[in-house]
Amino acid sequence: MKKVLVIHGPNLNLVGIREPDHYGTEGIADINAEILVHAEELGLDCEIFQSNHEGAIIDKLHEARTAFDGVVLNAGAYTHYSIAIRDAIAAIKIPVIEVHLSNVHAREEFRHASVIAPVCAGGIFGFGKHSYLVALDALARMK
Ligand code: DQA
Repeated sequence: MKKVLVIHGPNLNLVGIREPDHYGTEGIADINAEILVHAEELGLDCEIFQSNHEGAIIDKLHEARTAFDGVVLNAGAYTHYSIAIRDAIAAIKIPVIEVHLSNVHAREEFRHASVIAPVCAGGIFGFGKHSYLVALDALARMK
């Protein structure tokens, strides 16, 4: 069975409360429950991790190198400037899929840039919680 890791980055613990026009009113616990149900439907063994700290996300990516077959990563604001997270993704050989709840390209210009996109296998954004589910579909289909 493929093992996949879903990482929620900074401020994503407050989804449901935080800026509902961008991120919806559903809380992270409910989104996580849907992620786990969908992973099971796809025959994936799924772990979910959330941190507001850059180093903790990097440590988890390093751990994923040997413990998981793929990663779904919403790096939050780190997406736009963390070269350290980019380097961690580049250092591990498993596919990492960049996801965002919101359509970052329809928002402020600073959100249009992703420093992690070039080292990710692909990206999915703008579908709310479904971005995570589609990313799981992609990982399940990848060899
Ligand atoms: C986000 C988009 C980022 O620009 C923002 O900083 C977030 C959430 C999203 O899921 O839409 O924290 O990653």
